[in-house]
Formats: sequence, C-alpha cells, structure tokens
Amino acid sequence: MDYSAQVFLFGYATAAYQIEGSPSALNRTPSIWDTFTHPDPASGVKHTADGLSGDVATDSLNRWKEDIALLKSYGANSYRFSVSWTRIIDFTGEKKGKDAGGLDPPNEAGIKFYREFLEELIRNGITPAITLYHWDLPQALEVRYGGWRDKRIVEDFAHFAKACFNAFGDLVKHWITLNEPWCVAVLGYGYGVFAPGRSSDRAKSPEGNSSTEPWIVAHNLILSHAYAVKYFRENIKPVHGGEIAVTLDSLWCIPYDDKPETAQVAQRGMDARLGWFADPIYKGHYPASLKAMLGNRLPDFSAEEIAVVKGSSDFFGLNTYTSNLVQEGGTEEFNGKIKTTFTRPDGTQLGTQAQVPWLQAYAPGFRSLLNYLWKTYNKPIYVTENGFAAKGDVALPREEAVHDTDRVEYYRGYTSAILEAIHQDGVPVKSYFAWSLLDNFEWAEGYTVRFGVTYVDYETQKRYPKDSARFLKKWYEDHRQVP
Ligand code: NOJ
Repeated sequence: MDYSAQVFLFGYATAAYQIEGSPSALNRTPSIWDTFTHPDPASGVKHTADGLSGDVATDSLNRWKEDIALLKSYGANSYRFSVSWTRIIDFTGEKKGKDAGGLDPPNEAGIKFYREFLEELIRNGITPAITLYHWDLPQALEVRYGGWRDKRIVEDFAHFAKACFNAFGDLVKHWITLNEPWCVAVLGYGYGVFAPGRSSDRAKSPEGNSSTEPWIVAHNLILSHAYAVKYFRENIKPVHGGEIAVTLDSLWCIPYDDKPETAQVAQRGMDARLGWFADPIYKGHYPASLKAMLGNRLPDFSAEEIAVVKGSSDFFGLNTYTSNLVQEGGTEEFNGKIKTTFTRPDGTQLGTQAQVPWLQAYAPGFRSLLNYLWKTYNKPIYVTENGFAAKGDVALPREEAVHDTDRVEYYRGYTSAILEAIHQDGVPVKSYFAWSLLDNFEWAEGYTVRFGVTYVDYETQKRYPKDSARFLKKWYEDHRQVP
C-alpha cells in the first residue's frame, strides 16, 4: 500500500461508554462497566471518584447529530469512536435465538443506529475510524465463563467483530480491534481499579484472583484481536478494502541517569508495557525480558496461534500521553520492575503536571517514541489518542475553563513533535486524533477529570468549545498540505 498517497486523518476520539449514556436503549444489556459502576449500595463501595457512572455521560446517544456538527465546526476530517458490544449483539435472552454455533444474535436496533451515525459522518466529509473494543465487555460473557479470563472469549469477540465488519464494512475503512489492552489486563485484573475490578492482591480480591490473571487476560486479548483480523482479511478486505490494527498505549521511558545499565532498564520498561502486546503482534513472540521476569506465568502461543498473531496489524495504532523517567528498582512486574518518576535528578519536573497523577506534558518524549516505534515495528503510525486534562480546571467555572491554556500548550508541543517526527526524522505518521472531542466519563475518575476540547455542562448537556479546539483547528488548517 502506498501510504504517502493517503490523506492525513485529523480529528477527535471518544469511546461508547464514556459518552453514549442511555444504558438500556436499543436493547442494550449491561457491560462490565455498568456492573462495576453500580456496586451494591449496601456495601458502601464506590468504584469511581464521584460515585457516578456512564448512565448519562454526555448523552451522545441522543445528541449525536450535535456532536457531528461540532466535529465539522472543528475542521475534523475524521472521527474515531467505539461501538458498544451490547448494542451490536443481543444478549437479552441467554437461550433465545442463538445461532447454530451457539452464539448470540445480532441486535438489529443497535446496528441500525450506528449505520445512521456513520452515514451522517460521511455526509459531513468525516472519515470514520471504528474501535471495536473500548472496555465495555458484555456482562453476560463475564457471568457465562469469566469474560477475558477464558479462551472462549476469542470466538465471541470474533463473532462481534464479524457483525460489525459485515454491517459497516462498506462505510468504514479504518478499524481498531482493541483499545489499550494493557489497561484492560493490568487495571482490570492486576490493580482492580477498572472493571471487572479483579486484583492480583488477594486481600483486595477475596474471590481469589491469582497472580497469573493479567497475563492470561492479555493473552486472550491478543488472540481475540488476531482472529478478528484474520476474518477481516479473508472476508471483508477483498470486498471492501480497508485496514485494521490494534491500538496500544505507550509512554516513553527515559533513563533517569546516564549510567549504561539505566538504558537497559528503560528498554525493560518499554518491553513490559508496550512490547508485551506489540512484540507478539508485530514480531511473533513475547519480549525476552518479559519471559525472564515472569517465567511460566507468561502463557505460550501454540504454533497455529502465533501464525495468526504475527503480522496481525496493518499499521501501528498509538495512544500516548506522557513520558516517565525510569531507573532500576521497584517490584512492580506490570511495568518491568522499574522505578518511575517525573522528577529529574536535579529536582526539576519533566513537564506541566495534569489533573491525573500519571500525566505530565513532555513533547520531546513523543517525538522519541514515534521514532522508536517506526524503528522497532516498521509500520506507519496512526496516533489514535493524545491529550491533556489541566490540573484544577475541573473546579473552574465554565467561563474560565474554556480558556484552557495548559491544554493549548500541551497540544502546541505535541503537534510540533509530530511535524518534527514526520519531516525531520522521516517517520510515517498518518493520523492525529486528539482525546477528546468532549469532556466525558473518565473511568475510575468519573467526571472529576476533564479531557475535552469542548466543555460539557453536565446539568444542561450544553457544549462549549474551548480555546484548544480553536488551536487544533488552526493547526490543521495551517498544516493540511504538510502532513
Ligand atoms: C486512554 C483511554 O483510551 C481513554 O478511554 C481515556 O479516557 C484516556 N486515555 C484518558 O485517560
């Protein structure tokens, strides 16, 4: 494929559970996030910072035309969004209408909705990019066999993916199978801060979660992605064309000091978070350092499986927000038994601190990461998410919050880094999707963190463009010919 001939995709990203609301509309049944955000009130447990859920979110299931108009007014030529699995597949009756393979039937009402949505995008000159899985696993599958913990998920995910490919393949040419599988495996099954809230710490997970679950879940995620891609390439691509990949989250690991061993530690950090998923998918095996760290807790692929996994992405889907300084130490296996910090040896900070503790703005790290990915995996890169939640802005009145200087500065740095990577370093970057179109439901943080370029007044659901939306619109106008 001649990538240089492709139009650069500029736009915004969102995810179904973070914006749609209306959890039972169109025959939708619960996902693990509905369950997680509605713990038994008698237990006194809260899984989100404000105790809220995605029940309403930005009400985008009803306000979708307004959202598309907003995208258009921001000069976006593309939109990355996810479809809700339980609006596409009908889980309303465990036994009802299962097809011959024992799989649940499609949910025609949901499919019709997303088709209308896609048609409206296209009418407005906005190219859709669909994410199949942005963390909303059907609760029915969690109950039936333990969801991602069981290999049966591979068939159910492929079934869901096929339903989407067949229903939308004529309209959609950019597909993402999974969003940030690291977060699914580690935050959902290691730390237990995301649905389904299982933790490798037995004290926190009395049901008896084992210390192997994050790696089993990750293994099943990789296989699910790969078998969906196999179906796409054999059945959809020959008819409708299009490309498909996984989206991985990565932060750039910077050696804390210039000791030669610290450079190796930084590499271990990259392997543990990114290589864990990227190496099997692009190279056909788990990173050696991960194997050395985990031994037989890391599952093996059979010869047949790895043949399907290896090469199962047409491009590199990248979500990235920040960089970390890393050094030897720490016991945390999920990030390579390394110590991470934002504080340099001289006491200065890497960059501007965001509202969330894991994020500081450091654009040079973005450029380095883009170079690393191109050198290591040799695929064109689609930046599928990048963004900032300014510290303290959640407490500001709307009139002030829309003047989001920190977010503008963040985007100024990160968009320059993209141009440098493309023009000075020759890295083929093919898209830039900012996170996010709107303030929305930020998972365990609920509504206490705002990542949008549009301020959402949650009382009225009115949308107000922030300065960052104007900044990005202008950036794209100025560089339209260039990327
Ligand atoms: C990555 C996730 O894909 C998205 O859902 C989340 O809201 C942003 N990061 C910000 O944390």
